[in-house]
This record gives sequence, C-alpha cells and structure tokens, in this order.
Amino acid sequence: MRWRSSSHLPLLLLLLFIGSVSGLRICSYNVQKFNQKKSTNYRVMHTLTRIVSRCDICLLQDVVDSGGKAVKALLNFLNRGTDRYDEHAYKAVSSKSLGTSPSDMQQYVFIYKSGMVSVTGEYQYQKPQSFVRPPFAVYFNSQKTTEINDFILVPLHSEPSQAVQEIDRLYDVFEEVSKKWNNQNVMFLGDFHAGCAYVTRNDRKNIRLYTNSSFSWLIGDRVDTTVTDNTHCPYDRIVVHGQSFLKAIRPFSGKVYNFGKDLKLSRSKVVEVSDHYPVEVRLKGSGLLLQAPPLLMLLGVSVIVQSFLSSLGSSG
Ligand SMILES: *[C@@H]1O[C@H](CO)[C@@H](O)[C@H](O)[C@H]1NC(C)=O
Repeated sequence: MRWRSSSHLPLLLLLLFIGSVSGLRICSYNVQKFNQKKSTNYRVMHTLTRIVSRCDICLLQDVVDSGGKAVKALLNFLNRGTDRYDEHAYKAVSSKSLGTSPSDMQQYVFIYKSGMVSVTGEYQYQKPQSFVRPPFAVYFNSQKTTEINDFILVPLHSEPSQAVQEIDRLYDVFEEVSKKWNNQNVMFLGDFHAGCAYVTRNDRKNIRLYTNSSFSWLIGDRVDTTVTDNTHCPYDRIVVHGQSFLKAIRPFSGKVYNFGKDLKLSRSKVVEVSDHYPVEVRLKGSGLLLQAPPLLMLLGVSVIVQSFLSSLGSSG
C-alpha cells in the first residue's frame, strides 16, 4: 500500500500539538523583596503575572509578605478572568517567614495551577543552625500528567556567605524528605548563589550534590541568571535526584528565562521586578492522547476515524 502522506498529516500535526501542550513547566524566581509595596506597582505585577503564568509551578523566593497581601494580590492578577473553580486557577502555598535577622525575614512561596498539580504534603526543615532560610519542602502530585506523577520540591535561597555549606546540607534534607514521603523524586531549586565568588570550582568537592552522581544539575555552570551586565553568575539552579526523575525531564529544557528579551522590556523595567532572571525546566507528558483535555481528545478521535475512513476509501 502506498503511503498517503496527505491523509496522515492532520493526525501527525495533532499528535505533535498534543505532545507540545502536555507536561509541566517548573520555574524558580528570586523576585527580590516581593512585599506589599511592590505588589501595588501595576507594571511590576503585570510583568510578574506574565512570568508566573507560563509556569505550572513557580517557586518565588525573597517574598516578604507575612500578612499574605502581596501573594494574594498576585493570585488576583493571575486568576483574573477565571473563576476560582476553573482548572487553570492558581493557588499558593507559603512557608513561614524565615531568617535569622528581624530585618530580613523571607518566605518561600509556590504558586501552582490547581488544575495541573495538587499539593499533598508540606514540610518545614527544622535542624538548627543548618540554614539561614531552611528549605520548605512541598510534595506535589501531577494528576498523572507526568511520568513520575509524585515529586518533592525543595527550595533554597542560600545565604551567600554560607552557600557552600547550605548547598551541601541539601543532601541531608534529601535524606529526610525522601524517607518521610517514601519517594526519591526530589528536585532542588532556587537562588543557591552557586557560582562566582560564593561557590568556586574548587568548592564543589565539598558539596555532596556535586560529588554524588545521583544528582543532576539542570542549569549549567556557564549560565548567567543575573540581570546586570557586570556579573555573569549561575546563581539560580535546578537539581534533580535519580534516574527516573531525570528521564521524566525534557532534554535540554533547563534554562534561564530572559523575560526582558521575550517580552521586549527595557532593562529598567526588568530590574524593577528583580535583579535575577527566572530559571525553569519542563517535565515530559505521561503519554500523547491520554492527558489531553476532553475537547482535544474528541478532536483527536475524530481525526483518527476520519483518516481511517479515508484510507479505506482510497484502498477500495
Ligand atoms: C549518593 O546518593 C545516593 C542516594 O540516591 C546514596 O544511596 C548513595 O549512597 C550516595 N553515594 C555516595 C557515594 O555517597
């Protein structure tokens, strides 16, 4: 039988399309002192909304919002036009204010699309004197849209002068949370200060996340996650544990999101939001048609039936 490319073309396009809309994008952004005052700046909020809404889960760091008003304002921006039962509605889960100095208390905040993932557990790491801002681990379930389905996110905004020790201690956090939830699919993300003067090549031998080959660093050492031209530093990182998590990630999807370039913003508008760029990684979808929304599913089935009928017609 002759290969009739014309009748298969729509099907192929559809599969490509479904393949490309599936999976999860996970982002991490040091949003530099995101407080209530910043949340009243419309321009900042507009840009931040565009950044966060690309992500299915977005970790924000350096959030200074113990009253919750800034995060609430951001959720309002994100959820404009959707009702709160909409599957695309965003929700947030926040740590307490963390820090050792009353004038610099920060929260970790995960903003996530409630129709894509759900939160099944939270855990504040407690070991004294181990971190200035101890990781606040969150256990996510991806509702069967990814290959691994359940995974743990562990954030870190390190204290620059203790970056080597704090990144190394993430291994202890790994042991604790993987035991707690009986799951080794752990992703670390955040502004680790993992470069330039804070973490040198020579320091890596003292960091178990580097020396143990079970951990994969998805944002490379040559990447620049800072906005200013004066620095070229890979401060913000994403690291995953284990082969199954690594396999569930789209190859080469770990990158910096230069939103200034993408959204055509001037440097001053970029800096108004933060002196960092976000980093991100994408998880593969669990299958092709399976996780498509109902309308796409219907379309897919009708295209398949159509191309089947037309191939019957042509061979008869
Ligand atoms: C590396 O980490 C894994 C956890 O997946 C652990 O089982 C293993 O013992 C570690 N290897 C070394 C050399 O410490």
